[in-house]
Amino acid sequence: MSNIVSPSILSADFANLERDIKCVENAGAQWLHIDVMDGHFVPNITIGVPVVASIRKVTKLCLDVHLMIENPEKYIEQFVNAGADILTFHYEAAKDVKELIKLIKSYNIKAGMSIKPKTSPDVVLPYLNDLDLVLIMTVEPGFGGQKFMNDCAEKIPLIRKNAKKDLIIQVDGGINAETARICTAFGANSLVAGNYIYKSDDITSAVKSLF
Ligand code: DX5
Ligand code: ZN
Repeated sequence: MSNIVSPSILSADFANLERDIKCVENAGAQWLHIDVMDGHFVPNITIGVPVVASIRKVTKLCLDVHLMIENPEKYIEQFVNAGADILTFHYEAAKDVKELIKLIKSYNIKAGMSIKPKTSPDVVLPYLNDLDLVLIMTVEPGFGGQKFMNDCAEKIPLIRKNAKKDLIIQVDGGINAETARICTAFGANSLVAGNYIYKSDDITSAVKSLF
């Protein structure tokens, strides 16, 4: 079975976003990963609701929105209206995980939850039946271009072992053809990659190498 590839536009050229989205779409990527950062949950500020709405107008790709923000519950409706297909919040930012998952799913979109490198995978287990996706961060969230942390990938088997069959396990941070293989061997089936795809001389081959 082939993996779901979700190129992260954090490494794209923001002045040529439509071009850079088409490029990965033509290469066969199924999703587009959009990193929303608020300068509080992580020490960086990136993309917000209006940019997601503009992206929605130029692509049919599944918009995989990674919320690295505090108080995620306050912004769910806005991101849904902007056209998000998946909303992934951080366990560390959630006040009431069950309620937040319920809220996201009430809009008939996919709900994901992410854990940072220092967070134990045990915290995810009580929610596995409610979630559509679990995102295991393989770098500290905040910036593209960091080095893959192998010990984070080692969290995957516990999640896979306890999950329902269709749970999507995604990894994000330092993913390239080689680290992707490590993660898929552990049980991941969705790969986010920013620098590896967008800083490559051959974007199409980079995307294809992750399937
Ligand atoms: C980091 C973001 C990632 C980032 C990955 O906080 O969540 O999605 O874009 O970038 P690379 O693939 O370059 O590590
Ligand atoms: Zn991300």
